[in-house]
Amino acid sequence: MHPDRLRAETPGTDHVLHFNNAGAALPPQPVLDAQITYLEREATIGGYEAAAEAEGQLHRTYESIARMLGCDTDEVALVENATRAWDMAFYGLPFDSGDRILTSASAYASNHIACLQVAERTGATVDVLPHDEHGRVDTGALRSRMDDDVALIALTHVPTNGGLVNPAQEVGAVADDADVPFLLDACQSAGQMPLPVDELGCTMLSATGRKYLRGPRGTGFLYVQDDWIERIEPPLLDLHAATWTAPDAYEIHPDARRFENWESHVAGQVALGVAVDYALDQGLDAIFDRNRHLARTLRTGLADVAGVTVHDQGDVRCGITTFSAEQKDASTIQAGLRERDVNTAVSPPSSTRLDAEARALPELVRASVHYYNTEAEVDRFVGALRSVLRA
Ligand SMILES: Cc1ncc(COP(=O)(O)O)c(C=O)c1O
Repeated sequence: MHPDRLRAETPGTDHVLHFNNAGAALPPQPVLDAQITYLEREATIGGYEAAAEAEGQLHRTYESIARMLGCDTDEVALVENATRAWDMAFYGLPFDSGDRILTSASAYASNHIACLQVAERTGATVDVLPHDEHGRVDTGALRSRMDDDVALIALTHVPTNGGLVNPAQEVGAVADDADVPFLLDACQSAGQMPLPVDELGCTMLSATGRKYLRGPRGTGFLYVQDDWIERIEPPLLDLHAATWTAPDAYEIHPDARRFENWESHVAGQVALGVAVDYALDQGLDAIFDRNRHLARTLRTGLADVAGVTVHDQGDVRCGITTFSAEQKDASTIQAGLRERDVNTAVSPPSSTRLDAEARALPELVRASVHYYNTEAEVDRFVGALRSVLRA
């Protein structure tokens, strides 16, 4: 890792202290260039013509994602965001009355809302697994709760509200033993740590482009393991996901393209491939090490600020840090930091209601670092926070 070079390739670092990488990271120059170049071609030769010209580049996006996950390109679908990716898999599973959906306290709001809706519609039940002393999903309890009614294990790898990294691989082993589908929400882990789907044992994985992958907004992808693709009927179909073969017949695409739709943000998809390559060039292990180091340094700095409580859980913690302060609420702190050109996010209890209620969490400030951030920025951040709390 060469922070100077990485920052020289990240124009935003000249303007802001960006600790909102779990919201949307600053893109590196090659990602920006790929989008602008593509948009210029659209404006110059036409949208459909530019897409035809970029077919090879677009294919490389599938290849890059497949390389990152260690899967086949036919197992990857490009969609608009992580939620749509997750939904296309989840709503495509054939839930029935009596089925059990196992999930955990760190579930993301959109996913859990979908679980509740399916439970209402079908009579399936949603069982929230207990967590261990580190806040991680308790894999012993998971194993003991497995039975023939379990129709899905859904796990959020890294929650939106803290540094916790759930033991996805251990969950995947239980799912594999029981031959139950395992849907991993890797929205906050993609780009931050290696995601080898075979080792993780997930059947399906959803992710977004704009967060730790540093890709464009409005991009995301879904991985579905080959054996499962034809067992999941997409909740929505169009002429890209299926072919109209006779006036009263259609055939659903046999590979993961069935989860996509025809009209899409091609500039973003091309640039997403560039972003994935950029992350792979840095090395996902190296990124994870650096993020953990920077976040550890940040948590140490925050622990020294009077009135501040850090709320992160986990024995392994990633680049996300959340905290609250006695002196001011999270929105006021975020606004004060923004006035000082420091970017953070607010994580409300409604994003992670199960965890927030269990721990009686208030609105939290989320400060999420990435490998192009520096120790000097961590110091500046802590200084800026002190000044906001004093103001
Ligand atoms: C854990 C988690 N899952 C899913 C999502 C949804 O991602 P998207 O906004 O790309 O749909 C988020 C967004 O913050 C998230 O933090």
